[in-house]
Amino acid sequence: MIMRLGEFQFPDAARRLYPETPTLPWVLEIGFGDGRFWPEYARTFGSVPNYLGAELSGQSLLKAARRLRQANLGNAHLTKLPALPLLREVVPAGALSSIIVNFPDPWPKAEHEDHRLLRAGFFRLAASRLKPGGAVLLTTDHDEYFDFAVREAQASGVMRPEQGEPPAAALHTKYALKWQGLGLRAQHVRFVATAQPDVPHGDLTHFPQDPLSQDLPHSPEDARVPHAILESLPVGTDFSALFATFERRAVRGPEAATAVLLDAYRSLRRDEFTVLAHVVEGELTQEVLINVTLRGDGSVLVRLGKFGGPIITPGVKAAVGALTDWLVEQGSVVRHLGY
Ligand SMILES: C[S@@+](CC[C@H](N)C(=O)[O-])C[C@H]1O[C@@H](n2cnc3c(N)ncnc32)[C@H](O)[C@@H]1O
Repeated sequence: MIMRLGEFQFPDAARRLYPETPTLPWVLEIGFGDGRFWPEYARTFGSVPNYLGAELSGQSLLKAARRLRQANLGNAHLTKLPALPLLREVVPAGALSSIIVNFPDPWPKAEHEDHRLLRAGFFRLAASRLKPGGAVLLTTDHDEYFDFAVREAQASGVMRPEQGEPPAAALHTKYALKWQGLGLRAQHVRFVATAQPDVPHGDLTHFPQDPLSQDLPHSPEDARVPHAILESLPVGTDFSALFATFERRAVRGPEAATAVLLDAYRSLRRDEFTVLAHVVEGELTQEVLINVTLRGDGSVLVRLGKFGGPIITPGVKAAVGALTDWLVEQGSVVRHLGY
């Protein structure tokens, strides 16, 4: 149900992703948050369509995966990938019946307009991946972004905006309830594809940069990256001597997670070691890197590496904890634990 980047094909196919229901309509939801929309919306169909959800936040992904499991929705995949590369490279041309966007980040400051998802380039890409007559369904409380999206859709030349009532499920998402609590009203529009432009797969020059692949101030995950700071190392600053004793070890984390610290590698450029960990939690298996860096003041930072876009799960935190414990067993002193 949770798909990593490497598990997709480029482009992929409904018959591979949904082998039991390849001919059912296929819905993509962008920014599903904690995943409340799909279980409720899916119930309004006789045969539940195939579902692909894209979300940047790993914490939200885990919450949504739990909801889908509880709702027993089998033909659904969730992924922690930015929507634009997923739509451009994974979704085949003319495959989707609808693309759902509920309460997208509005990026209200004029200088951040480039970060908005619903721009003309997005609409051209969306139209190329929708079936004829398929639609992008937008629900938002943000009037200015709503008008912006309508203008951009018209400018794309391939979408016809049709205003109407949102699906009830779109008014029950986490953000819908938040804005209703503040007295704000949601607007809804269906952008119906009127043409199918050719947006090829693998042609990265054809489409503007994904807003989220630009250098944003900080990722929502940054504050939660599991880490530890250690006061000192037992054998001075000689990392090699310390890691000469490194052994493979397995730990049992919470929620039936298993983490195995497989090996350690030394950086040739910096005073740093990287430990490779294998983490298994139910259907989700991840190989993650944990960096151990000697800092200027002699302290040591143990921190999950960003390489490969790991999903921060209890098992990944257990892996960082297991490495920290090992360093403490070697004689390091803990200053701060952040996992
Ligand atoms: C304001 S929240 C709304 C969440 C949910 N739809 C709801 O109504 O509760 C916007 C969500 O979109 C996600 N997001 C923003 N840009 C994205 C992108 N390019 N691809 C996937 N998700 C994205 C954010 O991580 C965030 O969870």
